[in-house]
Amino acid sequence: MSSSTIPGAIAAVAFFQLVTTGTLDTIINGFFDLAIPSQIAILAILFATIFLAVSISQFVEPNGGDHDDHDHKPPKFIQYPLDKMSSSNSDKEKFMTIYPMIRGEMLSHMTTNEMPQSAVEWCKTMMDYTVPGGKLNRGLTVVAVHRTLTQSKHNRDLTDTEIARASVLGWAIEFLQAFFLVADDVMDASKTRRGQPCWYQNEHVKLIAINDSFLLESYVFTMIKQHFGHEEYYLQLVELFIQVIQQTEFGQLLDLTSQDENVVDLEKFTLERYQKIVKYKTAFYTFYLPVAIGMITSGVKDKTAFDLARTICCQMGEYFQIQDDYLDCFGDPEVIGKVGTDIQDNKCSWLVVQALDRVTKEERTILEENYGQWDDSKVAKVKALYKKLDLEGVFKSYEEESYKIIQTELDKVTLMPRDVFELLLKKIYKRSK
Ligand code: IPE
Ligand code: IPE
Ligand code: MN
Ligand code: MN
Repeated sequence: MSSSTIPGAIAAVAFFQLVTTGTLDTIINGFFDLAIPSQIAILAILFATIFLAVSISQFVEPNGGDHDDHDHKPPKFIQYPLDKMSSSNSDKEKFMTIYPMIRGEMLSHMTTNEMPQSAVEWCKTMMDYTVPGGKLNRGLTVVAVHRTLTQSKHNRDLTDTEIARASVLGWAIEFLQAFFLVADDVMDASKTRRGQPCWYQNEHVKLIAINDSFLLESYVFTMIKQHFGHEEYYLQLVELFIQVIQQTEFGQLLDLTSQDENVVDLEKFTLERYQKIVKYKTAFYTFYLPVAIGMITSGVKDKTAFDLARTICCQMGEYFQIQDDYLDCFGDPEVIGKVGTDIQDNKCSWLVVQALDRVTKEERTILEENYGQWDDSKVAKVKALYKKLDLEGVFKSYEEESYKIIQTELDKVTLMPRDVFELLLKKIYKRSK
């Protein structure tokens, strides 16, 4: 019931009373008998009273009478590029049409916040350099999950508006990814990313990259508010992002502190430690986040469904990071777009954990003397040892094994369409980049 219904009814009854008893005529005639200044004074009081009533009603009704709230439609001022989308054939093409829109919104937001043109230009260049150049797996997963769940619940495909809105959340994760990667490259002293120098490696950027990474993170929340601020699940989305960001930062902490500065303590490279690092630094934001977002926007409420998704996503995340560690050493930099630094960085990589499981006493000394140093000949010695231990073969059998185990896990999934996870797994199985 609208908040104006009761006052409206009271006014109608009172008006009826005045009319039927002839009181209204008396009042009107009396009014016109008054001197003009008195008539003006009475009208002024009347207008002031109405004005006051409207002001009070803004407090009584928290949303200030904005009837767009909670009707699950985007706010009216947002125009999705539906024309461009309808002429695009794939999710990826449609997804890409949303990027310039989001970028434009973030830049206007800066102008609204008194940022000069030079600052806006900086961020435009920075975003183009750091956000859209990856595989976009995470962002596209939001769209795919939303589609699978809509298909199973309503037996229909997504409209372009629905794809656009899922894409906005997809881009929110891709901005988050850019935030993590810009900072990760500084911390790991990396050289290249996505086939170009890391953002911080640019002469005019250097440590400004730290603040740029913070900005990329802040945009995540600006876009969620602008597009989803009116949704009943808004707070759930925001809290999910906050939680996942923190989990990732816990993971980065474990990754960065798994070795003391300049000492190599091979004892610390255990499988348990490894599994905890990758669950936190990679699995939550890479797999659970896009799946959970697709579930939230599709109206999934069941906590056990989220718990199940988390378990499976953590398994896939471990598999994905093991691939990343393998590619860091054995991948083609031209294909993966980055030059590996895990050996130099003294990382608790899956490869060193596996090597330690297989070395002789003498071979262990090779690791002790050569791991964790920025010296190409030492790195080559570690790589030669990995080859000798056939870690490539060990990885291949791990990959087969892990794929089978995840498949068996998926067989048990009845709570949700299996496709949600199947699509993800297909995307990463035997990837070369
Ligand atoms: C790199 O992620 C960081 C990890 C968590 C391993 P991706 O390999 O998905 O990087 P992009 O976004 O496609 O460049
Ligand atoms: C990065 O892991 C994980 C996050 C960015 C949170 P890596 O350090 O292995 O990623 P790459 O190899 O630099 O892409
Ligand atoms: Mn890194
Ligand atoms: Mn890596």
